[in-house]
Amino acid sequence: MIVFNKAEYDRESPNRNIIPLTAELDEQGRLEIGGCRLSHLAKRYGTPLYILDEITLRATCKAYFNALKKFYSALSLPLYASKANSSKLLTALVAEEGFGIDVVSGGELLTALAGKMPASRILLHGNNKSWQELALALDHGATIVVDNSHDLQIISELVGNRKLPVSLMLRFTPNIECHTHEYIRTGKLDSKFGFGPEQIESIFKKLLACSWARITGLHAHIGSQIFELEPHRDLVGIMADAIQLGRSMGHPIVDLNVGGGLGICYVSSDDPPSIQNWVKNIAKAVTVSCERRKLSLPRLICEPGRSVVATAGVTLYTLGSQKHIPGMPSYLSIDGGMSDNPRPITYQSIYTAFLADYPTQKVIQEVILVGKHCESGDVLLKNLYLPKSKSGDILVVFATGAYNISMSSNYNRVPRPASVIVFNGHADLIQLREQPEDLLFYDIVPPRLSSLC
Ligand code: LLP
Repeated sequence: MIVFNKAEYDRESPNRNIIPLTAELDEQGRLEIGGCRLSHLAKRYGTPLYILDEITLRATCKAYFNALKKFYSALSLPLYASKANSSKLLTALVAEEGFGIDVVSGGELLTALAGKMPASRILLHGNNKSWQELALALDHGATIVVDNSHDLQIISELVGNRKLPVSLMLRFTPNIECHTHEYIRTGKLDSKFGFGPEQIESIFKKLLACSWARITGLHAHIGSQIFELEPHRDLVGIMADAIQLGRSMGHPIVDLNVGGGLGICYVSSDDPPSIQNWVKNIAKAVTVSCERRKLSLPRLICEPGRSVVATAGVTLYTLGSQKHIPGMPSYLSIDGGMSDNPRPITYQSIYTAFLADYPTQKVIQEVILVGKHCESGDVLLKNLYLPKSKSGDILVVFATGAYNISMSSNYNRVPRPASVIVFNGHADLIQLREQPEDLLFYDIVPPRLSSLC
């Protein structure tokens, strides 16, 4: 049960709330976020509409930044994993909050550079980076996280006769189990990412012979939407061993990057750790592991994505058709679906939703909320209890700031929604709504068939 009372929210760790910190009801009981009435935003910008609450986003960044400063005595740097939601403005906002950024493609890298993230705070990941992506990173001075020997081969050719050695981080698969959806677990041995524990020594050896390479950091990421603290504690111990080995072989390893993974609340039964506890747990593990091995403390880097941006985001839809089948919950259709939020069909994710203008009215119906796509699996939410509703009502789905827009598609040639940012009663567009005509832009009819259309 959600209480729309700001006094009840966890202001220190927004990932522990389902709704943004500024969500409240106006005198008529209608939902507002960032001081903007949701149904007004729907009218002004259309639906589906992604909304980002600046106050929640900034509070989350500050929580990470301050916790690292408080609980870790050496240098630290939080990076925003931009795969969660990548845009120029988001980059600029997290940069202003002192974050760096993790990118996994040329597109995310260009966006980070366009958002004025200093290259010294950009990390390029990926298990199959292209020549172009690696060249772009090298040209701008972003750090490359080497995932495999294919990366090393391309980098060595790109580096050519450059005099300066290139600083690289190595990605390592620690063989750690965590309880999350199997598609978003990455720390197990059978993962496609990184070097396994049995390969690490030979890679360190091989790299000693490469005068152009300086291994300055180690990276691992064990999974996403994790509610436990132990896996990261275990991870740190394994990484400290690898740092000890690398340093003993002569590599100047100064960075320890533990990846991301902190979970958030999608529904009220979710109970993730706070940002403070997550950071404290890791900071303590690094300190203790390094003391035990008599290692100087590395710079501690973490890469949260979901927990930075998910709770700051909501999506608005307009209700459309209904289908009643005797003895069953009714189908209620929205004007978006699996193209703007593919998480339910991909991971069976569940969400919390309300009617934006009647969030506290007595619920009278159980419905199955379905999208408009031509696919029976296009179900956004099952077992949703709503007050009496009609076509045209605005529905809000919470905690959609991460892995929604960034995973959206044009399935059925449905244009992507617009995005707005809200703050103190102001709303501003940060991403234009695609138009159906835009989707024809990349279609080409070869001249020999041009008589057909
Ligand atoms: N670092 C690396 C190397 C990663 O692969 C990821 C996520 C992160 C950081 C950020 O993890 P986070 O803090 O967001 O958990 N599409 C899935 C999530 C995939 C996560 C992939 N990697 C979803 O919608 O649940």
